[in-house]
Amino acid sequence: MVLTNVPSPSLRRKNCFLVISFVIFVPFCVIIFYSIPDPKLEQSLQMRLSQLQVKLQYLESLYTSRQEELLRLSQHIEFPNETSSANQLFLGLETATKQTGKNYTMSSSILGETNPRVMLRMPTIYHFLPHLLNDPNSLRLAYLAARGRTGVSIVMGMPTVLRPHQNYLMNTLYSLLEGLSPEEAADAVIVVFIGETDLEKVLQIAREVEQSFPSQIESGLIELIAPSPSYYPDLDKLPLSLGDPLERVKWRSKQNLDYAYLMTYCQNKGTFYLQLEDDILTKPHYFTKMKTFAIEKMDRKEPWFLLDFCQLGFIGKMLRSSDLPWLIHFLQMFYSDKPVDWLLEDYFSMKSCVRATSESCNAVRKKKWIHYKPSLFQHMGEHSSLKGKIQKLKDKQFGKVALFFPHSNPKAKVSSTIKHYKDYTLDRAYLGKTFFWGLLPQSGDKIIFEFSQPIVVKKFYFRSGNAEHITDKLYNTTVEVLPVDPIVQGSAWNVTSDGYIIVGKFDLFGMAEGILNETISKISVLRLHVHSESENWTILSEINIIVTEESR
Ligand SMILES: *[C@@H]1O[C@H](CO)[C@@H](O)[C@H](O)[C@H]1NC(C)=O
Ligand SMILES: *[C@@H]1O[C@H](CO)[C@@H](O)[C@H](O)[C@H]1NC(C)=O
Ligand SMILES: *[C@@H]1O[C@H](CO)[C@@H](O)[C@H](O)[C@H]1NC(C)=O
Ligand SMILES: *[C@@H]1O[C@H](CO)[C@@H](O)[C@H](O)[C@H]1NC(C)=O
Ligand SMILES: *[C@@H]1O[C@H](CO)[C@@H](O)[C@H](O)[C@H]1NC(C)=O
Ligand SMILES: *[C@@H]1O[C@H](CO)[C@@H](O)[C@H](O)[C@H]1NC(C)=O
Repeated sequence: MVLTNVPSPSLRRKNCFLVISFVIFVPFCVIIFYSIPDPKLEQSLQMRLSQLQVKLQYLESLYTSRQEELLRLSQHIEFPNETSSANQLFLGLETATKQTGKNYTMSSSILGETNPRVMLRMPTIYHFLPHLLNDPNSLRLAYLAARGRTGVSIVMGMPTVLRPHQNYLMNTLYSLLEGLSPEEAADAVIVVFIGETDLEKVLQIAREVEQSFPSQIESGLIELIAPSPSYYPDLDKLPLSLGDPLERVKWRSKQNLDYAYLMTYCQNKGTFYLQLEDDILTKPHYFTKMKTFAIEKMDRKEPWFLLDFCQLGFIGKMLRSSDLPWLIHFLQMFYSDKPVDWLLEDYFSMKSCVRATSESCNAVRKKKWIHYKPSLFQHMGEHSSLKGKIQKLKDKQFGKVALFFPHSNPKAKVSSTIKHYKDYTLDRAYLGKTFFWGLLPQSGDKIIFEFSQPIVVKKFYFRSGNAEHITDKLYNTTVEVLPVDPIVQGSAWNVTSDGYIIVGKFDLFGMAEGILNETISKISVLRLHVHSESENWTILSEINIIVTEESR
């Protein structure tokens, strides 16, 4: 038989660890042994060692999964008649019945036999979520867009649904990506879990993400997943609890199942798992700050359970991936009993405190559930995915959100056909003192920058909308420049009827940027040209016109 030559699991495990330890620690000892004592070097080596230790934990949990597969396989080979024999006696009789649709009856009793061919059946996820047995595809993904990236430092999991009111997913992804350097982006995975059972809705969200972030999907930085509809039980039949109405019970129960699914998918992709939501803002350099914070804690041997980068709900909570299996099972066991953030707290106190209610639990909490200040993530949505629930909570530890981004721009006379609101004028915005806030733009409206003298513009960057008014963007708006000299023949620029060259366009995030190459020499005017009436006001929160050295 195939498996007779396979060493026993414990032996394999030992071998595997020997190899891992050898590969990781021997080069280390060599380095440390031969190096001249240098406190700085020592410290950086220590950090690196901590980093490797965390990685080892992660590899160990990967190994456990493989081990389990092997064990299952060997059981089947050793006991091919297993399901039809008496070993159904103890546990799993009902489960097996559901699984195969057959009735099992004890054909023979066993009286005092040593080493009988009877295997004990442990309760599994199917005991907590029996509805999963109704469809063999219940755990099959309904949608997947992934390059299969693994072995990164931080896996970010973000559940989303189609929201009837404001949709922040694209802005959230934009904010997350904007804060990542290329090196950081190579060391991360962002998994977007689409918690919709209607495939049309799943595809709608998936297409939007894929069209907005093609290169990030291509590189494997962003992955999209959706569960099979049969992953969920009949939510209308859930038992009521905590005095919540059914709508709320359904919402919070589904949320638990969503998180469990997402964590399960992410579990073996990286060393740390970060839970996010789909309506958040990030601070610059959030990735390295989190990673360094975690490694430092490991380095100082502080026994943390959770690193908390946002004070709210389940946003910005970081766990070791190797701890996830416990939490996942916990969420599955109690998914219809409590909301997800309560379960997280309960699981924490169960694991870390003598008694959950004791005074000392607070002290333990301070030590093992570590808040990072100031917060790195801010909640921005107001409409929760629970219909009608308004969620205005903001993290006070996040600090002020930048509502505009000042730059020094070339001297210009500015004007606009869009009426401004209060003292959010274009003049002040151009000088970097505030943002420009204009009332409903109409088709044909323009924002005009007339330079004091013709200049050569190298690059431009405009940002519309801001963190407090995300939808106040410039929609269907182009960036146009008026050249002093005719443009070079043969270049592919499009020109308006009044002689302006179209050099850019605001995208769906409300950003417009572009580079003007040498085919355009000096320009005297740059303008933003609105092409259709907008149902929202408009904010111009960043104006950055970069000129060549000679033009300064
Ligand atoms: C399995 O069942 C078949 C048919 O009932 C029998 O011939 C065979 O010996 C059994 N094998 C074992 C390992 O018990
Ligand atoms: C299983 O047993 C029940 C009750 O004895 C019976 O109603 C049912 O038809 C049986 N199912 C099969 C597949 O034999
Ligand atoms: C400058 O940009 C235009 C428009 O993108 C393009 O057609 C032209 O080839 C570019 N010229 C050079 C020299 O890069
Ligand atoms: C010019 O317009 C055409 C059609 O709208 C477009 O496909 C092309 O990309 C534009 N060229 C430039 C340089 O923007
Ligand atoms: C932009 O405006 C033009 C002109 O009014 C219109 O034809 C076009 O459909 C608009 N595009 C979008 C995406 O709204
Ligand atoms: C205008 O804002 C509302 C919400 O404030 C949003 O639903 C709508 O999509 C925005 N308009 C456009 C054209 O995006």
